[in-house]
Amino acid sequence: MKSIIFYRSSYKGNTLKIAQSMSDALSAELVPIDNAPQICLSDYDLIGFGSAINFAAHDIQLQRYVSGLNLKGKNIFVFSTRCRPFLGAYHKPLRKIIERKGGKIVGEFSCRGFDRTGPWVVMDGYNKSRPDERDLFKARLFAEKIRWKLHPLTDVRKMPVTEYSGGIALRRIESDIVIGNKVVFLNTTTCVHCKKCINICPMHIFDYESKVLPVNENNCIQCRLCADNCPTSSIYINESFMNGLRIAFRESFSDKLQISYKSGNAE
Ligand SMILES: Cc1cc2nc3c(=O)[nH]c(=O)nc-3n(C[C@H](O)[C@H](O)[C@H](O)COP(=O)(O)O)c2cc1C
Repeated sequence: MKSIIFYRSSYKGNTLKIAQSMSDALSAELVPIDNAPQICLSDYDLIGFGSAINFAAHDIQLQRYVSGLNLKGKNIFVFSTRCRPFLGAYHKPLRKIIERKGGKIVGEFSCRGFDRTGPWVVMDGYNKSRPDERDLFKARLFAEKIRWKLHPLTDVRKMPVTEYSGGIALRRIESDIVIGNKVVFLNTTTCVHCKKCINICPMHIFDYESKVLPVNENNCIQCRLCADNCPTSSIYINESFMNGLRIAFRESFSDKLQISYKSGNAE
């Protein structure tokens, strides 16, 4: 998924820290809007806009920049850093602009940032050392959640199984064939057989005969290394509480996970 994050962080660099954390999670380009960059957005699947909250709304330069963009059909997330404890309606003005420009808001994030303006001068600033490690961690989680939400196979587990191939369930999504029972799904049509998943999976879930197949999904521990490294977003892991429980039980009451881990059939 190709992502880009536009930000303005003119006061203390607070929003930049958050933007960097999100950009790491999404492998997104990070672009300051200070010099009104001219970037063609048609290639991007996900766009982020963030700044400080200045006078109860996003930075005015960011608002103006977004007003000049064509965002029709684009997935967009909005973020900010602010002084006050509660976000309230601070995102509303930017949200309205994005909606007017045809964008679809898929998530919002805000956290506190250091402020030494107005009354806070008396105590040498408020929200000292914010954003902190916890804020950056939350920003990262937020970005990862969005990426997962927009994965092309997000709804595959809800689709009916159309047939079985060698005991593995198969679903047809239009012309694509997706293989997997309940945990690990692989779009065999978009898979380019690079075998990265086979080599990176610590549990040896995948196998290769004439094509890559998720043959041992019950041993998946949801580390998501395969999906995160798949160049064509062809792998989806159905992360759920129940799957978490299943893994915990399997680890506690059998040695199946250990055996799978040690099997080492990676190429
Ligand atoms: C001109 C100005 C106006 C601000 N107005 C608000 C505000 O209305 N509400 C709020 O919670 N914080 C307000 N703040 C605090 C900033 O939102 C906060 O410090 C933010 O983290 C700065 O981010 P930056 O370093 O990325 O620019 C204001 C700060 C400045 C400098």
